[in-house]
Amino acid sequence: MATNHLSLLLLLSLFLTSTYVQPKPLPTSPYLSPSTVFFSDYQKMFDNFRIYMYTPPISFAFTTPSESLFYTHLLNISSNPFFTQNPNEANLFFIPFPPDLSPRKISRLVRDLRVNSPFWNRSLGADHFYLSRGGIGFASDRNILELKKNAVQISCFPATPGNFIPHKDITLPPLTTSNHPREPLNNKTSSPTFLGFTKKLGQSSFIKELEGDPEFLIVDVDDDASEFDLGEIIASSKFCLFLYGTGGDVSWLGEALRLGCVPVLISDRPIQDLPLMDVLKWSEIAVFVGTSGGGIGELKGLLGGIGGERYDRMRGLGVTAAQHFVWNDSPQPFDAFHMVMYQLWLRRHVIRYARREEWV
Ligand SMILES: *[C@@H]1O[C@H](CO)[C@@H](O)[C@H](O)[C@H]1NC(C)=O
Ligand SMILES: *[C@@H]1O[C@H](CO)[C@@H](O)[C@H](O)[C@H]1NC(C)=O
Ligand SMILES: *[C@@H]1O[C@H](CO)[C@@H](O)[C@H](O)[C@H]1NC(C)=O
Repeated sequence: MATNHLSLLLLLSLFLTSTYVQPKPLPTSPYLSPSTVFFSDYQKMFDNFRIYMYTPPISFAFTTPSESLFYTHLLNISSNPFFTQNPNEANLFFIPFPPDLSPRKISRLVRDLRVNSPFWNRSLGADHFYLSRGGIGFASDRNILELKKNAVQISCFPATPGNFIPHKDITLPPLTTSNHPREPLNNKTSSPTFLGFTKKLGQSSFIKELEGDPEFLIVDVDDDASEFDLGEIIASSKFCLFLYGTGGDVSWLGEALRLGCVPVLISDRPIQDLPLMDVLKWSEIAVFVGTSGGGIGELKGLLGGIGGERYDRMRGLGVTAAQHFVWNDSPQPFDAFHMVMYQLWLRRHVIRYARREEWV
């Protein structure tokens, strides 16, 4: 008996030493770069970043909440420390134009910059940026093509498919509107394990399937009256489901993070336009799944497998990351406005053509 036990133990410990490789240290920060690097880069941005703004063609306003706040903060010279009136000291140039400007007029705007400003030709627009809700599409027009390919585009999340160039373009952290949903679509009052967000329009069969399952609660964000506390439901749900690009609503993404509901992004194609894509380690903060395959059974299995320490870690990293999704009425350090600025700052290094006089 004793020898049997001994061999068993030996076998077991052999098994353990052969498969139990050095555990990877658990991530304690939601950032892609080490926290110290991120914080010192951010400080450099804060101290040195300068943006020159061209005069808007006409006075105009944006309609989506995040775009509107970003533009307001950018224009507010008294609260925007990055603003400069001297284009020679600017790192980047902002081209403001109204959200509904026709491609023909955008083209003329770029042509005017090319002719009248010495700064466009220097980089063919690569040190310029613009704001456009859905992003602008490719066109054969030379001016639009240069703007599209070279300048940094800031759009809402999600950008219109095909209108986003990864590593160059940026999406704004979404902002919840004051439209709180009135009541859950499927009449469940107790706290769900899973919470989904949808809009009345564009309900897919996948959403219908989720609605019929007792473990999922689907809320309709288009309902305008605010009679039940969505925050409370988010806070008590384990996972918050966001359908990417198929009628789902993503505006509650920041709130889900803040309230400790781990986001699940459901998409059948890779998501390349997430907000703060080059700051946050999204794979440690959110779960990414497709709708094809095993349907909601498979989805439940997958999410059910994320528990214990792994779940707590994701949740904790998400709560830390949530501060970067907050849009303040007056911008605060590390909030959504400053993080968009930080991402622009990361894109300030562009190849510039030397001017002729520098050669002589
Ligand atoms: C501009 O910023 C200042 C300082 O933060 C603030 O008091 C003022 O209300 C802002 N103006 C607008 C139009 O947002
Ligand atoms: C920029 O280059 C174009 C030729 O592509 C030229 O027509 C234009 O005058 C230049 N702009 C300036 C400000 O020199
Ligand atoms: C939810 O319940 C109310 C009554 O409590 C009922 O009038 C309503 O039709 C139900 N809605 C759904 C979607 O089942």
